[in-house]
Parts: sequence; C-alpha cells; structure tokens
Amino acid sequence: MSLQAHWDDRYENNPASKLSWYQEQSPEVEFVNESVGKGTPIIDIGGGLSPFVDQLVDLGFTNLTVLDVSSFALAEGQKRIPGKQVEWIHSDIRTWQPERMYGLWHDRAVFHFLTEEADQVSYWGKAKDTLVPGGFIVIGCFSENGPEQCSGLPVARHSTGDLVAAMGDEFEVLESARRIHRTPSGGEQEFSWVIAQRI
Ligand SMILES: C[S@@+](CC[C@H](N)C(=O)[O-])C[C@H]1O[C@@H](n2cnc3c(N)ncnc32)[C@H](O)[C@@H]1O
Repeated sequence: MSLQAHWDDRYENNPASKLSWYQEQSPEVEFVNESVGKGTPIIDIGGGLSPFVDQLVDLGFTNLTVLDVSSFALAEGQKRIPGKQVEWIHSDIRTWQPERMYGLWHDRAVFHFLTEEADQVSYWGKAKDTLVPGGFIVIGCFSENGPEQCSGLPVARHSTGDLVAAMGDEFEVLESARRIHRTPSGGEQEFSWVIAQRI
C-alpha cells in the first residue's frame, strides 16, 4: 500500500475523533497568535484534519498553507474552509519542492515518520531554506519515551535535544519541553516540542 493510500484509508475509514493523534484544539495556536502578524505565511506540515488551520482562520490569519500526503484529508479541509483562504498542497514532505518562503512552519506528529536519516536531513534543509530570517518553527514529535509506532507505521523518536541538535546553528531555540498527549482511548504519548526562530 502506498503512503497516500495508507493515510487516505486511516482518514476515510475512522471517525476523526477516534484517531490516536486527535485533539479538539491546537494549543500551539496561542504561540502563533502572540508571535506573528495575521498576514504571515504559515505552513502546517502534514496538517491532516488538525484544527490548527481552522483556529487560525477564525483568528483572522490570511496566508495559510496545509501540506499533506493524504488527498482525502486535504479534501475534507477544503470542505471545512472553502474558497481561497487556505492553500492545500498535496505532496510528500520527503519529495516536496517548496515554491515560496514561509514565516512559520508547524509540524505536529509528522517528522517522526521520517525514519531514514537522509529524509530527516532533507527535512531540516527544507525548513531552513523555506523559513525567512526571523521565521519560526514549531515542531512536536514522539519523544525518546514515546510509542514506537504511530498509525501502524514505524517512527523515529527524538528527544528535545535531538531536535535542537538537528536544527543546527541556524536556529535559536525559544522553548523546548516534553508534553503528554492523551489519546481518545485514554493512552498517553510523550512528545518532544521545540519552538525555535530562524536566525
Ligand atoms: C499523525 S497525523 C498528524 C496530523 C496533524 N498534524 C495533527 O496533529 O492532527 C500525520 C499526518 O501526516 C501526514 N503525513 C504522513 N507522512 C507524510 C509525508 N511523508 N508527507 C506529507 N504528509 C505526511 C498524514 O497524512 C497525516 O495527516
């Protein structure tokens, strides 16, 4: 099964609120709202059905992009937010060729699916090349104590220190923390979260 087929199947055949990564609200929106202007180009990597973009639309943000390998998730997003308020990019982050710069890069629970080192290196290269100086990255992935799989796929787990080291000298770290996500079935998943600014 292709990666797209895997994710389309997950979204099409499960109620959104039962998916292990489901959350009703994106707490990261608070940082975004306090830190960047309403016209800042913001991209949500692997946004899926996340409420991140909906909350930003409600707050008046106007330059929003969601990238995902699942065309089903993107189509659902377009139904929720019709018109041209959001750009929907159907792509695999591993092969995506960015065509513009962004002021904020958000990734919740996507980077950990990149299990090959070459894909991880390419990811950080894209984040660096795509963020304007002063732009922010807000990233959360399974920590070293997190689950070994997500959605039936293997993951690479990272401590906050791993993420900071991988970002390299081009980022100034503003916040790093481990946080617990409570799944709809009552489980606990430990995430590493880092917020950093492109120098
Ligand atoms: C665990 S879900 C997280 C979704 C969303 N970020 C959230 O917090 O609700 C992972 C998402 O990443 C997408 N995804 C997985 N691998 C991807 C890849 N290589 N390129 C782009 N999107 C990917 C999936 O389709 C899915 O929407």
